[in-house]
Amino acid sequence: MYEAVADLIDNSIDAGADRIEVRFLADDERVRNLLLVDNGNGMDESALDAAMTVGLRRAYRSGSLGKFGAGLKAASLSNASSLTVLSRTAETGGAGRRMEAREYAADFSCGTVDTSFAAALLDRYGHITSPHGTVIRWDRVRAFETVANDGAARYLSEVIDALDTHLELRFHRFITEGLRIDIVLEHADTGEVIEVENCEPLDPFGYRLTGKRGYPTVFRADVEGIGTVELTAHIWPARSRDPGFRRVGPLLGRQGFYFFRHRRLVQAGGWNGYRVAENHLSLARVSINLPEDADEVFRLNVKKDGIVASPAFARGLEAARDDLGRTFRQYLEDAEKAYREGGSRTVQRPARVYPGKGLEPKVRKTVKNEFEELKGQEPISFIWVPLPDDRFFELDREDHVVKLNRRYRDAFNGERRGGLNDAPVMKSLLYLQLEEFFRMNRWEQKRVDQLEYTNTVLLAAVRSQLDWMTR
Ligand SMILES: Nc1ncnc2c1ncn2[C@@H]1O[C@H](COP(=O)(O)OP(=O)(O)O)[C@@H](O)[C@H]1O
Ligand SMILES: [Mg+2]
Repeated sequence: MYEAVADLIDNSIDAGADRIEVRFLADDERVRNLLLVDNGNGMDESALDAAMTVGLRRAYRSGSLGKFGAGLKAASLSNASSLTVLSRTAETGGAGRRMEAREYAADFSCGTVDTSFAAALLDRYGHITSPHGTVIRWDRVRAFETVANDGAARYLSEVIDALDTHLELRFHRFITEGLRIDIVLEHADTGEVIEVENCEPLDPFGYRLTGKRGYPTVFRADVEGIGTVELTAHIWPARSRDPGFRRVGPLLGRQGFYFFRHRRLVQAGGWNGYRVAENHLSLARVSINLPEDADEVFRLNVKKDGIVASPAFARGLEAARDDLGRTFRQYLEDAEKAYREGGSRTVQRPARVYPGKGLEPKVRKTVKNEFEELKGQEPISFIWVPLPDDRFFELDREDHVVKLNRRYRDAFNGERRGGLNDAPVMKSLLYLQLEEFFRMNRWEQKRVDQLEYTNTVLLAAVRSQLDWMTR
């Protein structure tokens, strides 16, 4: 599904959008829709008809991310049972089309959406779609329908996190240049915004200091059929904690080739058969801007998340040199050397149980950037509940919840109504203090005592805070 959302974003970028929202619409039990809202140039009636036609290839500008005239329909209807497209341009009011998966499978036919419905939905997101823009809506998203009734919140926080990482990586160059992408969780009935995750650029080459002198360097490979391909070979500093190093994917998957097509990352790591991934090469990353008209050698794979390279690429690589006459093999050896010499200069941090609901997405992301996740552990969430007066907090070890005494909530929000993610500083401090308790199987008496005095001190603190506020 992440790749499909990225497909929709390609279209928004092609349409000149610089603001995009991916919206999940959910009620208390179910995730209902996925929406993509952009402020691009939009489509009039005839452009909408063309957009819904499968395989109609428009005249693409150079640099366009679209190519086959299929992405919108294929991406949408392989994930949802119904696709609705609503759009308006600077000259035309709202118009729309709808296509059902069964029509897509049969004859690609589509229906027209009532213009007042189109205008109403566009207006609902007028902060993006005025004066022009587009809303793409998926109904009956298959991945949503299999989520258990009480599992929606948990499911969404995982999906939003994973989508966020995916988009931050794929579009990092665009985001750096000013594209704003927000992932928004919206209450389907009230329209209330429950959570917003702003995508920041996640640059897989964003280290501060090179891991080895003499790098990065550019290798020129002559590839039969398409001419010279430039590969920029980087060596990351060893044991980097930089998010651009760690958040890109699983450890062994992060090394290798990063292919860009028109500044859009289409493959994040992997050696495309040239080598096998191994720990020794984990600092080696190579960026390649795919040349125009290189389909003969570099094809997008079926899943659309990577490149299939023909053997001509590997042959070109063998003969490639950089300006100093070095070979690609030498580069790989240097990357191995840097890895070995990197040793254990930095302190190893234990993996942590991640924070979950109740703590601001920005803080959660920061924690993720600092620590690996302790696998198989449910994130720690924070909720305000009624507790006895002498408890500031209680731990629910089973469900990984920190329960906070609702009575003391005002101390953190003053006159304002506290939202789900209120009191980020207090919750972060508590998270840092308590996280290790959720990592342990058995609690010794000493630990229980630590919880006791933490509670006692915080209780005194919050009471003085309230006193101070009402003085
Ligand atoms: N968000 C959008 N804003 C404006 N036009 C769009 C948008 N999404 C799709 N389109 C139009 O629909 C056409 C078909 O899109 P798609 O099926 O993804 O094929 P492709 O992007 O390869 O042309 C695009 O070429 C574009 O003209
Ligand atoms: Mg497209």
